[in-house]
Amino acid sequence: MTSTISISIDGKTCECPMIIGSEGERALDISHLRAATGLITLDPGYGNTGSCQSAITYIDGEKGILRYRGIPIQEFVEHPNFVEVAWLLIFGRLPKKAELARFSVRLTDNAHLHEAMKHNFEGFPATAQPMAITSAMINTIGCFHSELFLPRDDPETEEAAARLISKIRTIAAFTYRKVRGLPYIYANPRLRYCANLLHMMFSMPYDEHVIDKEIEDAMNLIFILHADHEQNCSTSTVRMVGSSQANLFASCAAGVCALWGPRHGGANVAVLEMLERIHQGGLTAEKYIELAKRKDSDVRLMGFGHRVYKNYDPRARILQKTCEKVLKKLKIKDPLLDIARKLEELALNDSYFVERKLYPNVDFYSGIILRAVGIPTNMFTVMFVIGRLPGWIAHWKEQHDDPTTKIARPRQIYTGLVNQHYVPLDQR
Ligand code: SDX
Repeated sequence: MTSTISISIDGKTCECPMIIGSEGERALDISHLRAATGLITLDPGYGNTGSCQSAITYIDGEKGILRYRGIPIQEFVEHPNFVEVAWLLIFGRLPKKAELARFSVRLTDNAHLHEAMKHNFEGFPATAQPMAITSAMINTIGCFHSELFLPRDDPETEEAAARLISKIRTIAAFTYRKVRGLPYIYANPRLRYCANLLHMMFSMPYDEHVIDKEIEDAMNLIFILHADHEQNCSTSTVRMVGSSQANLFASCAAGVCALWGPRHGGANVAVLEMLERIHQGGLTAEKYIELAKRKDSDVRLMGFGHRVYKNYDPRARILQKTCEKVLKKLKIKDPLLDIARKLEELALNDSYFVERKLYPNVDFYSGIILRAVGIPTNMFTVMFVIGRLPGWIAHWKEQHDDPTTKIARPRQIYTGLVNQHYVPLDQR
């Protein structure tokens, strides 16, 4: 196996070592390229560029494989426990019974927000975007826990993770209640993680929302499937911000902003809007597919395509089954699911999508499940935040613990004007 590759130009040569990952992936280490040859590389969107070596998650986009710390995601389906998977991602192995119990207690003990934070929610207009509130509130809880800004060891990381992962639920629930003018419902220490979220969102002071075990399992599974995904846009943002030694809370707050975009986490909202638009008769599924194929239309088949998966997103396959189970359990016949199935059937038989290897991704079915559970469309991406938070914490920790970490600072190729001079105002 080649151990280095030489890159030569103008009589200068850089010997680039070959890095080989534990799944056989190969990368050219070009970290000395500019010093040796004056050359840099250019890769808009980083489709061919690795930013780091990581032991957290592995994706094989061609084969549709996704593994968390080496465990295939399919193996979590039978016993979905988001809290356990969060610990796995952050600490690198499944928690022992005592560790899981300790972490669960820490999550229960940290479900509340400082009472002063209620004023922060009141400062937002009723029309405020939940993702804007979520990002602001993550930085706000950081103000109450600044002693955990830069966790120095695993116990401190576990406490910081417990506070963030527990409180993000309360932030989501209070955001949902605030924009509807409903009273805040506090966490119930007797409820497990996902059940407590739905309790805080949907209970009333006089009426406890009863959560069905199958729905609780479906929410655990949705959060597990969203928990991490290598160097996606938002995780790369968390790493980028964390590389400046910015604290864990600020880095995660930045991740929320990156996830917000409709080409990333915001796609689950865009999928529902697309399905609603077709359902309301604006367009047929066939017409929508035709529009999505046209370069001159700004229409894309939302929930389809992926930078890495050039096969079915394994998460989409699992969520499609979960979607049908949840709708059956809740005795819901959602016409949007029929439209989603129709779009999938049309696209998978259309050369435009087949040639570009565009398949359903994690966002294609998740929204239909969330909608069935009663979560409104504008809260879908906040649900994605809850799921992805353990992955962000895991990546921030992996980078923070690495003594070789440098501040992320990409280069560029300048294409602007040259040899310009200042012209006094009265001569312009
Ligand atoms: C997530 O990175 C991650 O891991 C993200 C994520 C995670 O867990 O963190 O998996 C979560 O963000 C899932 C993706 C959610 N986004 C969407 O569903 C939005 C719709 N999808 C697209 O916008 C697009 O597929 C992306 C953004 C997801 C990927 O885009 P790429 O890899 O940059 O591909 P591209 O834009 O270069 O497209 C290649 C071709 C183009 O056509 P040509 O120029 O070759 O003729 O495919 C076309 C695109 O126009 N194309 C689509 C399409 N996606 C790509 N055409 C119609 N509909 C689509 N959805």
